[in-house]
Amino acid sequence: MDIRPRRNRKSEAIRSLVQETTVTTNDFIFPLFLLEDSNATLEVASMPGIYRMGLNYMLREIESCLKLGIQAFDIFPVVAESYKDKTATKSYDKSFFYHKALTKIKQEFPEAAIMTDVALDPYNSDGHDGIVKDGIILNDETLEVLGKQALSQAESGADIIGPSDMMDGRVGFIRETLDDNGFTDVSIMSYTAKYASAFYGPFRDALDSAPKSGDKKTYQMNPANQREALIEADLDVDEGADFLMVKPALAYLDVIKLLKDNYSQPIAAYNVSGEYAMLKAAAEKGWLDYDRVMAETLLSIKRAGADIILTYHAKEFAQLSGAL
Ligand code: PBG
Repeated sequence: MDIRPRRNRKSEAIRSLVQETTVTTNDFIFPLFLLEDSNATLEVASMPGIYRMGLNYMLREIESCLKLGIQAFDIFPVVAESYKDKTATKSYDKSFFYHKALTKIKQEFPEAAIMTDVALDPYNSDGHDGIVKDGIILNDETLEVLGKQALSQAESGADIIGPSDMMDGRVGFIRETLDDNGFTDVSIMSYTAKYASAFYGPFRDALDSAPKSGDKKTYQMNPANQREALIEADLDVDEGADFLMVKPALAYLDVIKLLKDNYSQPIAAYNVSGEYAMLKAAAEKGWLDYDRVMAETLLSIKRAGADIILTYHAKEFAQLSGAL
């Protein structure tokens, strides 16, 4: 035999030489859930190890993550029911606790990249990403609110705006709003191919943001479709997105690869709450070696073509790599 592929697997030293993909903390954006009460912490029942945190805890958490090499954070607010209304007015209120916390975080850690989510669902009494009228999710009326939301987040210190709402035209609308107000340096990471997935369940528990009625299928994509992701990506690129995201990650590795092969923008993948919960639940039962499946999961997302991974495993992975 002239060709024996096993020679390149002979030892750890040779395996490392020929290793094609590596995951490092530079690849991560760590999602964090913010509580209004500065001194509170509350574990998410369906996401063991993930805590909703008040500002004081979150500042310490960000500090310890920065020391581990994680430099980017996506911050989501837990909004009490009493603040929610039909048009999500708190989503663009700069005196709201979320906006004030962003400013404080950015002041304390100017070196960190702070990402925010643009969608109405945590602030909206209907629990939908857009404004609901007679059971219909209104597109163009929602854009007005998304623009205000994005601007208020930029004014509060956000570095990267993450529209996760899937309304048509939102990237262009937000880009124009930011530019008109002098925020030409604030980036947009578009949730380009965001599917109507059941894997978001634990996240909706964490934020108490599930739709009050209906589902998100008229705006999030059908899990059966791959080519439709190209339509969304073409639009996002034309409208000025700096990064293209696929979400969820694991059941959509083919879509990550498709976007990677067709676009030059950096590709992000969101390793979502349900994907995290699956590994944790199996590990708690003693059915899987958590550290190894976590590392393999993250590697698979990177290998499929993601340059950036939004993941709840970020801190654990960083701690584990430090220990190796
Ligand atoms: C808000 C939003 C969701 C997620 C990120 N931003 C939920 C949804 O669209 O229903 C999900 C993240 C996760 O499951 O980890 N639109």
